[in-house]
Amino acid sequence: MKERILTGLRPTGNLHLGHYFGACQNYLKLQEEGNEFYLEIADVQALTDNFNNPEKVRKNVYEITTDLLSIGIDPNKVNFYIQSKIPEIAELTIFYSNLVTVSRLQRNPTVKTEISQKKELFGEKGESITYGFLGYPVSQAADITCFNGTKIPVGEDQLPLIEQCREIVRKFNSIYGDTLEEPTPILSETKRVKGLDGNEKMGKSLGNAIFLVDDSETVKKKIMSAKTDTNKIHKDDPANPDNCMVYYYHKLVNNEENCKRICENCKKGTIGCVDCKKELIEKMNELLEPIRTKKEYYNNHKEEVEKIINEGTNKAKEEAKVQMNKIKEAMKINY
Ligand code: TRP
Repeated sequence: MKERILTGLRPTGNLHLGHYFGACQNYLKLQEEGNEFYLEIADVQALTDNFNNPEKVRKNVYEITTDLLSIGIDPNKVNFYIQSKIPEIAELTIFYSNLVTVSRLQRNPTVKTEISQKKELFGEKGESITYGFLGYPVSQAADITCFNGTKIPVGEDQLPLIEQCREIVRKFNSIYGDTLEEPTPILSETKRVKGLDGNEKMGKSLGNAIFLVDDSETVKKKIMSAKTDTNKIHKDDPANPDNCMVYYYHKLVNNEENCKRICENCKKGTIGCVDCKKELIEKMNELLEPIRTKKEYYNNHKEEVEKIINEGTNKAKEEAKVQMNKIKEAMKINY
């Protein structure tokens, strides 16, 4: 049985270092392994908590696609498509909604966390939760099974959603006969990248992210304001690099030898924070410069991006039809 890699991204903002060192490294590796790889730009899912901000979602469908292309996701190996262009996904979501209880959705840890983070939208205690948001795990199960996705590269936060998809698949198969495959998650090796402020997570909404498309001036400003060891007041005070975000990012983008030197000098107080930050700015820009160049290329060749999305979406449409026929037959609604 052929494996199919399938994943999705909500188009709500540009990619940052957290994505790059997490999910994206996983995608780059997997695209070389010769399996079919479907990558959904999940605009319908993005609308579940951005229904009042359609311009944002629309803009970011383009942004996230070009960010992915700019880091080296190869459209000849990875099939990009837009969720809203595949009506079968919406149709499947309705069918699956009979196979899951409301209380099971309310207990989904990822959904629970997200509801509590979105008080403005869903109320202090989640009392204004929408039907659509509560049900997005069902829609994600449709995303996956609509294309028979078997291997799902995701971050840890997505595991409860994959588990819920597996439950839906089992329930479906037990009622309508063996039709769907249970997907398995593939976790990225780097779990999480910390934010500039030392927060455990880098995130757009946390305001502590370095974006892949940040220009060199922005990168400079952000790194200059990154959190360092608060015990280091003077340039030659010894400090603990483990309490410093600058050293933390050096470990991501600088080589081992330089990291060792920086670590030792920091402990001895023979390197100042400004010099250390300057070196990081240089290394960070070395990483980001080729990405910026490619991004600019795509911005100047929008027709190429459109072609990639359209061709990928057309291929996905064909696939969805086949799978849908199979599912409707199993459900005895193949009139
Ligand atoms: N929920 C995922 C996220 O927020 C995005 C997503 C949509 C997805 N559809 C998917 C992930 C299907 C894996 C498989 O990042």
